[in-house]
Amino acid sequence: MEKLWGGRFKAATDKAVDDFNSSIRFDKRMYLQDIRGSIAHAEMLGKQGIISKDDSALIVKTLGEILCDIEEDRVEFLIDAEDIHMNIEKILIDRIGDVGKRLHTGRSRNDQVALDIRMYLRDESEQIAMMLDHLQTALVSLAENHVDTVMPGYTHMQKAQPINLAHHLLAYFEMFKRDYSRLSDWKKRMNYSPLGCGALAGTTYNLDRNYTASELGFIGICNNSLDGVSDRDFVIELASVLSLVMMHLSRFCEELILWSSHEFSFVEMADTHSTGSSIMPQKKNPDVAELIRGKTGRVYGDLNTLLVMMKGLPLAYNKDMQEDKEAIFDAVDTVKLCLPVFADMLRTMTVKKDIMKKGASGGFTNATDAADYLVKKGMPFRDAHETVGKMVAYAIEKNCSLDEIPLNVLNEFSTIISDDFYQAIKLETCVSERKIPGAPGNVKEAIKEAKEYLEKLI
Ligand code: ARG
Repeated sequence: MEKLWGGRFKAATDKAVDDFNSSIRFDKRMYLQDIRGSIAHAEMLGKQGIISKDDSALIVKTLGEILCDIEEDRVEFLIDAEDIHMNIEKILIDRIGDVGKRLHTGRSRNDQVALDIRMYLRDESEQIAMMLDHLQTALVSLAENHVDTVMPGYTHMQKAQPINLAHHLLAYFEMFKRDYSRLSDWKKRMNYSPLGCGALAGTTYNLDRNYTASELGFIGICNNSLDGVSDRDFVIELASVLSLVMMHLSRFCEELILWSSHEFSFVEMADTHSTGSSIMPQKKNPDVAELIRGKTGRVYGDLNTLLVMMKGLPLAYNKDMQEDKEAIFDAVDTVKLCLPVFADMLRTMTVKKDIMKKGASGGFTNATDAADYLVKKGMPFRDAHETVGKMVAYAIEKNCSLDEIPLNVLNEFSTIISDDFYQAIKLETCVSERKIPGAPGNVKEAIKEAKEYLEKLI
């Protein structure tokens, strides 16, 4: 096939080089953005009198037809047409001849690809934002059912203080809320049009860059043509936002894997979201959670690929940058795969409230509250800490819990302890009395705020 850039070449490209160079295999998914960009460019060329109005109209109409044909699978892309940009341009020229050859006036593939990838990622980010929203909704509705589900909170993976499951779930709500806001913030920074930056130095044609930018939903234009064609910050930033999304999913998955182990038995995944073993008949494995945890690594890898790929590149465009696509597409695809399946896994799992509560009652999770009781009766906190420490040592020796120590024995540790001690260190009290903002006893308020936040998003 004759290349669109073939004029100065005497020999055809080596077949292996064509295969090596070509990106159509993975960049064809940007066909919609490529056509939208070309339509805006052609309209602008007509409006500015750079090409005739008739030519502009014919190009726009034909690009619309090509779009339909692609969507209905009637188009064959060619490896030796290299990428989505030249494949579509070639189809246009095949259909309308010389008129089609006018489309690329005042444009380079360098600003074209920079435009397409921006628009593609912008579109994908909308979908990811929606999925984050759905996941947050799932978290809040689960939290509503578990305001009274007492569980142990951990530090160092050791039982620390009792909390409720709702509070634990809302911790993840906060993480995904930040992810959502990072995505919105990302969009504000990346939403500038590189179209008109040309190969690297703009163009001598009187292009109306602001027109194409606003037609394509950008808030402005990239200020510097060199930067416009060679900036991939937005790709890296998105990969970083997605890495954090995956990190949050992965931490939660790690907990769910632990929680569904026989040792914890805090939750049981639905049959629909678990798998069995080919040899051990008793097994029910949390594969979904494990796979999400595993896939987190590949998204981190994508981020690293992008960072390393960019670090040594002189201005402006370099072919290395074609490598941005597989990495960021993989990150986007992975997150889009994980978010909904994770939300469904949450929605369908069974929480074993009694076992969770039992877990909270061992390990002296109410020891801080016992110390706080003494403080409220007038003892300095450090002394209270020491006193309760001794009570814990005694209880370990007697193999009992703090609330099983009779009052007369407690009074040997401190005479200020009276009958109300037992109520003060009940697990439910430990949770409900932590009612300052941000604490588990205030979780109903937190749920209310979370719901208000979600309503505003819609
Ligand atoms: N397929 C290329 C990419 O993804 C398009 C830009 C190529 N430009 C060039 N001058 N070779 O980066």
